[in-house]
Amino acid sequence: MKNQNPISSGGSGKSMNVIAPLSLVKHLSCFFFFIFGLTLGIILCFHYKSFSFNLLVTNRQFSIFTSQSSSSSLSTPPTSNTSNYNLEPPNVIMHNLNDQELLWRASMAPRIQEFPFKRRPKIAFMFLIRGPVLLAPLWELFFKGNEGLYSIYVHSDPAFNESDPQGSVFYGRRIPSKKVSWGHANMVEAERRLLANALLDFSNHYFVLLSESCIPLYNFSTIYSYLMNSTQNFVELYDLPGPVGQGRYSILMQPLIKLEQWRKGSQWFAMDRDLAIEVIADNTYFPVFQKYCNGSCYADEHYLPTFVNVKFEGRNSNRTLTWVDWSKGGPHPSQFIRTDVTPEFLEKLRSENSCEYNGNETNVCFLFARKFALNALDRLLRFAPIVMHFNS
Ligand SMILES: *[C@@H]1O[C@H](CO)[C@@H](O)[C@H](O)[C@H]1NC(C)=O
Ligand SMILES: *[C@@H]1O[C@H](CO)[C@@H](O)[C@H](O)[C@H]1NC(C)=O
Ligand SMILES: *[C@@H]1O[C@H](CO)[C@@H](O)[C@H](O)[C@H]1NC(C)=O
Ligand SMILES: *[C@@H]1O[C@H](CO)[C@@H](O)[C@H](O)[C@H]1NC(C)=O
Ligand SMILES: *[C@@H]1O[C@H](CO)[C@@H](O)[C@H](O)[C@H]1NC(C)=O
Ligand SMILES: *[C@@H]1O[C@H](CO)[C@@H](O)[C@H](O)[C@H]1NC(C)=O
Ligand SMILES: *[C@@H]1O[C@H](CO)[C@@H](O)[C@H](O)[C@H]1NC(C)=O
Repeated sequence: MKNQNPISSGGSGKSMNVIAPLSLVKHLSCFFFFIFGLTLGIILCFHYKSFSFNLLVTNRQFSIFTSQSSSSSLSTPPTSNTSNYNLEPPNVIMHNLNDQELLWRASMAPRIQEFPFKRRPKIAFMFLIRGPVLLAPLWELFFKGNEGLYSIYVHSDPAFNESDPQGSVFYGRRIPSKKVSWGHANMVEAERRLLANALLDFSNHYFVLLSESCIPLYNFSTIYSYLMNSTQNFVELYDLPGPVGQGRYSILMQPLIKLEQWRKGSQWFAMDRDLAIEVIADNTYFPVFQKYCNGSCYADEHYLPTFVNVKFEGRNSNRTLTWVDWSKGGPHPSQFIRTDVTPEFLEKLRSENSCEYNGNETNVCFLFARKFALNALDRLLRFAPIVMHFNS
């Protein structure tokens, strides 16, 4: 009890004793009037500040949307030609957008279909890899002479810190990446991150996902025509009874996703810009996969097939363009080493197939193949000009 007195009277007690009791009332009322005014001032000031702050935020987002040159959100170096800079952004690779901002930014599509500048449609080659692009020299040969018709995006493990040599087509093409674990939904997050980065470039028209062990089976001009002229997307999907198909479905996904809508398919897709935007803008189906298909459900084999089956089956070929050999069974497909690579083997992958392309039967069903080991590189480089007509 005793101790409370000095505390409650506080530091002002001493000066109040000096002042006469009568003027104390006057002083106090003056003091309270002053405090009231001050509080009112602070409140008004804060209100105004938060109002102008809101305006600022809106302005900033608007500037992300309209121009990348003035905004600090996309830190792109100025280009030599500024006349069409705001309309035709340069290849934006490094930016400081987080995933949410990136997906939002990339989900925008123009309502006017004609471009006010000359647009050469490009193919975005998106490499989802761990470390380096293993077969980089083969891809270098593939891309050579086709500058302006492709863009490259690389998503690798954030712990991988080696840089590609200057002058390589992969130099400076690594996007801000996050850790990817086998089977987890974060694999699909990485695919969406690649798509979103590639969508920032209006010129990208077709989007292909590739692994570190993928090779092209045809030369650039053949692949470019095949994709650009395709009326369909290439997202493989099929219904598979049993534990590794329907067995991975979770009843908790209902009512949004029903068992009869559940599909399986290869992770390696090729899709046009319209579908790519739908995939990165999907805020309905993907969160359900993140929640209930994270782990041994393998979201990378089920999210896209199921999503496309439910929403966009009409324009889908239901097949993949990436050849792979599952014939030996097990959780991983066969890997091909140096001695497997012969001209006959490559020819077989190129043409001994049958499928539909734009409603017609064709024997060109696979444009890419996996999985090829690093030790196969020298033979691939040797046969590519002969079998695959690189640089002919
Ligand atoms: C910039 O673009 C304009 C129109 O596309 C073109 O006429 C001009 O030559 C270009 N300038 C440079 C420096 O590339
Ligand atoms: C790359 O990472 C390794 C270990 O993860 C480290 O030893 C090495 O110094 C790093 N190199 C560079 C250039 O940062
Ligand atoms: C699409 O096919 C037509 C006819 O085969 C061809 O003339 C055209 O060059 C192709 N387009 C592209 C972008 O390759
Ligand atoms: C998915 O699983 C990983 C590892 O088990 C976990 O870190 C992550 O939080 C999970 N994500 C969701 C959305 O549950
Ligand atoms: C793809 O599969 C869907 C069913 O998921 C079917 O409706 C469609 O006709 C198939 N398309 C082709 C080209 O086979
Ligand atoms: C299919 O092939 C026939 C004859 O080869 C050709 O006339 C037709 O235009 C082709 N259809 C498509 C959709 O390419
Ligand atoms: C690409 O390969 C095809 C055969 O698949 C060939 O006819 C064509 O000339 C090649 N294109 C180039 C630019 O070498």
